[in-house]
Amino acid sequence: MSDTVKILLPETEMPKQWYNINADLPVPLAPVLHPVTHKPVGPDDLAPLFPMAVIEQEMSTERNIDIPDPVREVYRQWRPSPLFRARRLEKALNTPARIYYKYEGVSPAGSHKPNTAIAQAFYNKAEGVKRITTETGAGQWGSSLALAGAMFDLEIEVFMVKVSFNQKPYRRAFMESFGATCTASPSNLTAAGRAILADNPDSTGSLGIAISEAVELAVQRDDTKYALGSVLNHVLLHQTIAGIEARRQLEMVDDYPDMVIGCTGGGSNFAGIAFPFLGEQLRGGKAVEFIAVEPASCPTLTQGKFAYDWGDTAHMTPLTKMHTLGSAFVPPGFHAGGLRYHGMAPQISHLTDLGYIKPRAYGQLECFAAGLEFARAEGIIPAPEANHAVKATIDEAIRCRETGESKALLFNLCGHGNFDMQAYTDYLAGKLKEEDASAAEQSMALAGLPSVAGL
Ligand SMILES: Cc1ncc(COP(=O)(O)O)c(C=O)c1O
Repeated sequence: MSDTVKILLPETEMPKQWYNINADLPVPLAPVLHPVTHKPVGPDDLAPLFPMAVIEQEMSTERNIDIPDPVREVYRQWRPSPLFRARRLEKALNTPARIYYKYEGVSPAGSHKPNTAIAQAFYNKAEGVKRITTETGAGQWGSSLALAGAMFDLEIEVFMVKVSFNQKPYRRAFMESFGATCTASPSNLTAAGRAILADNPDSTGSLGIAISEAVELAVQRDDTKYALGSVLNHVLLHQTIAGIEARRQLEMVDDYPDMVIGCTGGGSNFAGIAFPFLGEQLRGGKAVEFIAVEPASCPTLTQGKFAYDWGDTAHMTPLTKMHTLGSAFVPPGFHAGGLRYHGMAPQISHLTDLGYIKPRAYGQLECFAAGLEFARAEGIIPAPEANHAVKATIDEAIRCRETGESKALLFNLCGHGNFDMQAYTDYLAGKLKEEDASAAEQSMALAGLPSVAGL
C-alpha cells in the first residue's frame, strides 16, 4: 500500500449520515433575522422559500443527520469519491509534505455541488414542490440542480450571472440538456432584474442580483420553492459527506491531516472537507490548521466586515451575521465565477471570527499558474475556483520543503475545469489581468449595511 495513489472506499461504506457542526460549536451562531422586523426568523418565515425538512436541518443542532435512502441511491452514481495522494505533484515540488486531495470533480456535473442539489431536490419532491428556482455563478450549481431536477422530475429555472453566461455557453447547454431553463441575470423576467438594468443596462450581474431574481419568482407561486447552492447551514451539512469519506480514506492509509485547505465562495466545499475534522478538534481531538482561500478581488473573509447583512442585492432574504463586502458589492468579472459572492456562510464566518479558520486571499494569475502546475503533474485540470486551494497547498508544500517538515496536507479539489477552457485559453494567451476590487467600491458597499439595533 506504500505507493497507493487512489484511496477508494467501497459503495457499501458510503456514509449514512451527514455531520452538523452546530452540535459542537463552542459559541452558538448569531440568530438569523427577519429583513423587515429584525426579529429572529422562525420556520414559518422561511416556508415560502424552502421545504420544511430543509428548514429543520437549517435550524438543527443534532450532530448526525440521516441521509435519506433515495439520496444515497443517486449519490452512488459517483460516491464515494476518490481520495488521491498527489505523488506526482509531491515529486515535482520535491517536498517532504504528504499531499492528499479529495476529488469531487467525478460527479456528473463536475463538482461538489450535486451533494446538496440531490438532497434539496429530494426534500422538495417529497413535499409536493413542482418547480425550483435558483441562481448560478460559474454554472456548476445550476448544472447540479438541473441534474437533480432530472433525477426527481422537477422543473428547474436558473438565473446565471451574466458574465459567466457569456463566458461559459456550454454550462447553459448542460443545464438545458437536463431539461432546465437558464436565463442571463440581470434579466427582464423580474422586477429586481429590471431595476438593475434600468440603472445599469451593461450590468455583468452578481450572485446577489441573481439570488434576488430567483427568490422573487419562487415566492410568486405555491408550487415553487427556491434552492441555494452554498452559504446556508443545510448546504454545508450536505457537503460534509466529502470530509467524512476523506477521514475514513485517510484511516485506510494510517494518516490524519495537519492542514485542511479549501477555496471559499460561499463556504460549502470548504466546510464539506473541513467540518468533520474541525468537529473532532472541537470535541477534544487533534488540532488541525484550517485554511480558507478566497480571491483577492472578492476578499470577503480577509477584508469584509463581520456584520449582519442581506444575502441578496434586492434585500428580499433574511439578515445573517457573516463576513460581507456589502450586498451591493459587484466584484470584477474574474474567471472563478463561483467565488464572486459578497457574503460568506455564517458558520464559516463565525468559526473564522473565533480563530479556528485562517483565511487567505490570492490573485487569479498566481492561481491559474498553480492550477497548471497541478494539472501537468496530476493530469486533472482544476476548476478556476479550485485553483485557489491548489495554490495554497503548493505554497504550503514548498514551505515544508524549506523547513524539512513532512506535514499531511489535505485539500478539496472541488471541481474540474473542463467547462472552463475559455479561462485557460485567456490565461495561456496572457489576456488575464489581476483585477483587484478598488477600495472605494468595497467601502461603498459596506456603507449600505443594515443597522441592526443592539448587534
Ligand atoms: C467548482 C466550484 N468551487 C467552489 C465554488 C464556491 O462555492 P462554495 O464556496 O460554496 O464551495 C463554486 C461555486 O459555484 C464552484 O462551482
